[in-house]
Order: sequence, then C-alpha cells, then structure tokens
Amino acid sequence: MVNIEEITNVTEYEELAKQRLPKMAFDYYASGAEDQWTLKENRTAFERIRFRPRILVDVTNVDMTTTVLGFKISMPIMVAPTAFQRMAHPEGELATARAVSSHGTIMTLSSWATSSVEEVASTGPGIRFFQLYVYKDRNVVAQLVRRAEKAGFKAIALTVDTPRLGRRESDIKNRFVLPGHLTLKNFDGLDLGKMDKSQDSGLATYVAGQIDRSLSWKDVKWLKTITSLPILVKGVITAEDAHIAVEAGAAGIIVSNHGARQLDYVPATISALEEVVQAAAGRVPVFLDGGVRRGTDALKALALGAAGVFIGRPVVFSLAVHGETGVRKVLQMLRDEFEIAMALAGCTKVSEINRSHVETDIDRIRIAARL
Ligand code: GLV
Repeated sequence: MVNIEEITNVTEYEELAKQRLPKMAFDYYASGAEDQWTLKENRTAFERIRFRPRILVDVTNVDMTTTVLGFKISMPIMVAPTAFQRMAHPEGELATARAVSSHGTIMTLSSWATSSVEEVASTGPGIRFFQLYVYKDRNVVAQLVRRAEKAGFKAIALTVDTPRLGRRESDIKNRFVLPGHLTLKNFDGLDLGKMDKSQDSGLATYVAGQIDRSLSWKDVKWLKTITSLPILVKGVITAEDAHIAVEAGAAGIIVSNHGARQLDYVPATISALEEVVQAAAGRVPVFLDGGVRRGTDALKALALGAAGVFIGRPVVFSLAVHGETGVRKVLQMLRDEFEIAMALAGCTKVSEINRSHVETDIDRIRIAARL
C-alpha cells in the first residue's frame, strides 16, 4: 500500500486504483465512449490554455471561498456525481460525503449510488446536491426527489445527456455488472435496485429498460412542478441549449460531456464553456466538469466564466486507494494547487479571476489575424 504522504497530485491515484481494483470495476470508472477521443480531449484542451498572470499584486491573503446557489463554500471545486462508489471502497458514498463535508464544499450524489440519500444524509451536515436520472416510471422519480428533499439535499442536478448509455467498449467486453453484494441503493424497495447480467454492459441494458428516452425540455418544467429545489441542467455543451435551459427555468447549467462517456467526438467541456457562458449571459451560473485534475484547471475554467468546477474520477480513484482519507487528500491537493495558482496569477479573491487571465487558441488566432 502506497504511503499517502508520497502522493503529490491527483492523477497518481488513477494508476494506484488500477492496481487495486478488479478490472471490471476499474474499467467502468476509467473508460469513455468508443474511441475515447473526447476522454483525451477533456485533458488536452486544458493543456492548450495558457495563463496571463498579473504580477506585483499583494497576495499575502488569498481567499478561495465562493457562493454556489446561495451556499458559501470553501473553494469553487466540488464533487461530481459518480455511480457505484462502494465498488471502489466498502464505505463508498459515505466516505466521500464525510471527506467533502470536512472540506466545506459540495458533494453531488448519483442516482445510482450504492448508498441511499438517507444514508448519506446520516453521515452528518454538509451541502449536497442530488443527481437525477429520469426513469420511465415518473412515480419513481417523484418519490426519489421527495426523499432527496427530505434528506436535506439542496439542488437537483438533472442529467440530460443520457437517453441511452454511451458505448463504453470495455464495459461491453467485461459484460459489466454491479457486484452481487451491491445494489442501486436508492431504488431498493422499488424493485429497481438490481442490475442483471446481459450480453452487453449490464448498465446499458438497465438504462435501456428503465430510463426515459423521451425526456425533453417539457420535463424540466414538470420537474419544477414536483420540487421546489433549484434544478441544474447537467450536460449542456452548446449555446442553443443554454438559452433553452435558462428559459425552461434552470437555476444553473453544468457544462458536461458526462466524463466523455456518452457521445464521443463532442468537444472538451473547457472548449465548450465559453459559448455556454456567453449564452447564459449572467442569468444563471455556469459550472463545468470533465478533465479537471489540477488547481490550474479550475483557475482556467473560472477565468473562462465558470462559477465552479466538479471533479469525478479523482474521487473514485482516491476512494479506491485510501478511502475517506484519499478523497480528503485529493481535495486538499486541489485546494493547495488552486491557492498557489491564484496567487501566482495575481488573484486574491475568486471574484477577481477574469477572462484576461487566460489565452486560448481562439485568442491567438484573433491576435494573429489583427497583425
Ligand atoms: C453513470 O452515470 C455512468 O455514466 O456510468
């Protein structure tokens, strides 16, 4: 077992998790759809963005706190929903919930968690959002949303990019299925908690059977009739959909390509961010997930207009290796990196981070065109 003190960045956890987890579990967490072009691009697009730091700013005090949907958090780095966390570690989502609360930031619990909303709530106080998949049976959805509300969840992150599950080829090859001792805990008792083995990814078969392919914008309005919680539309990557999301009453938008697990060859989220931010035009906050592995990535996203970022895979990989302590470590490393990045860019508050702090490919083309 590697000594936690030796780990210096969040990416190291991926290889360590690979050594530790059964192949079926690791592949499920790690893979993207088909050629995995977008999976790679989610990272390389961050690498193409450069900073334009300001110097000789007094950075004795760097304040990373920010406010998301009215909740004050310690940094604009939050935790994305990832399914089946007990496949990574016996304490699963409960360990993640404790780690995230200890860092004063927000956890998003997956609909497909292996711990229920009530169990996660019982870990103690914390600001938590609930990620929602809309099932064909709307009574199931209504019940689940009500339970999340009752358990103190503060927002619904509605996933809108999954009318069908993307083709993750290793899951198909492995005939992925949830280990027998685990269930989709929120659906126990609703007779939807089990995933059967199939000739495909068991999850793809489950989705085909249960998830509503007919989901459309009118359902965002329907969701608003059954809950008073704010709704974040998760999975927007175009200006067109950003406009509609705002009109449909979304309280926020999450620019996401589902960790590159759905449609391959969509742009990296960091490349799509700016057009969504421009379309939202300050009417609702815009968040981003996908490929965030460094504090500098968070700084880039905020400079391009994001109100905050979410991390997914680093949480499950660190959970697999070091449990709750691993997730704490990941959040601490990102916090430390983000603080240094802010200081070196000459920013003392999150509100000071702006578009002038980065230079993108498009900026370089524009500058060259003017010469
Ligand atoms: C779960 O949401 C997945 O995409 O595997």
